[in-house]
Amino acid sequence: MIDVTSELAALRDRVTGWKRAGQQVAFVPTMGNLHAGHFSLVELARRHADRVVASVFVNPTQFGPNEDFSRYPRTPEADTAGLDAAGCDLLWLPSVETMYPFGVEATVRIGVPGVTETLEGAHRPGHFEGVATVVARLFNQVQPDVAVFGRKDYQQLAVIRYMVRDLAFPVEIIAADTRREADGLAMSSRNQYLSAEERPVAAEINRCLQSMREGVRAGRPREQVESEAASRLSGAGFAVDYAVVRDRELGLPATGHGPRVALVAARLGRTRLIDNLEFEA
Ligand code: PAJ
Repeated sequence: MIDVTSELAALRDRVTGWKRAGQQVAFVPTMGNLHAGHFSLVELARRHADRVVASVFVNPTQFGPNEDFSRYPRTPEADTAGLDAAGCDLLWLPSVETMYPFGVEATVRIGVPGVTETLEGAHRPGHFEGVATVVARLFNQVQPDVAVFGRKDYQQLAVIRYMVRDLAFPVEIIAADTRREADGLAMSSRNQYLSAEERPVAAEINRCLQSMREGVRAGRPREQVESEAASRLSGAGFAVDYAVVRDRELGLPATGHGPRVALVAARLGRTRLIDNLEFEA
């Protein structure tokens, strides 16, 4: 049966006890409203450790002023039951006061240079600083041996890896594949904002990523592949933030063969969706 706590001392007691008994501890940070994608992270964590801790914390510092912090879906009962079924041992549910004892304005912030400056970083100023700021705290609270993040948030994973290496966190980062609906739409807590008319259209993002991959593989110029993807998405009713092909470090790719990632961020009505596809050119 899953244990749930909002007390830092209780979290520390449990994790210290496991570690003293020689057990490995894996950690899955989330913002709740959990779906099969999140649960697959817990299952992957299970395979890498003896104990799994998950956290649910809707982190105010990673939302912009006009973003969905206050209306972000909160479903604590369903989250707890689902985590229990997925094999999670402990759910860490910190309050904002526990996470930010000096208050959100006066918190020590963690800025990650380079990788945060493009794409999501450019479209959501301050977002990755908020993510790094909260994940650093979560790592210090939970003190896991390994932590699992989804490839769905490709750039977030790169930010976390950079921070872990630069600040020498003794945590191994594991990447989990993206879980999708039957029509290819990446699972996301934000999908439920989509109207019945918008929902089938949303799957166009994944189809578009696949045709970007095919275009690059066919040797078509990157700029052409990107602008065709953007027009196709606008034609389907999206407001496109970006539709790009990058190397795996998110730099502009050299011509020729090699590892690539196609990334899309686009808004459908009030809902902003992101997805990506890693492939070999
Ligand atoms: P959240 O959006 O709740 O996502 C929690 C984790 O689940 C992230 O690592 C994310 O990449 C992963 N995830 C989301 N959808 C997925 C899917 N369809 N398949 C596989 N994994 C998926 O990402 C955050 O929360 C926050 O930024 C957080 C890291 C918790 C910091 O606040």
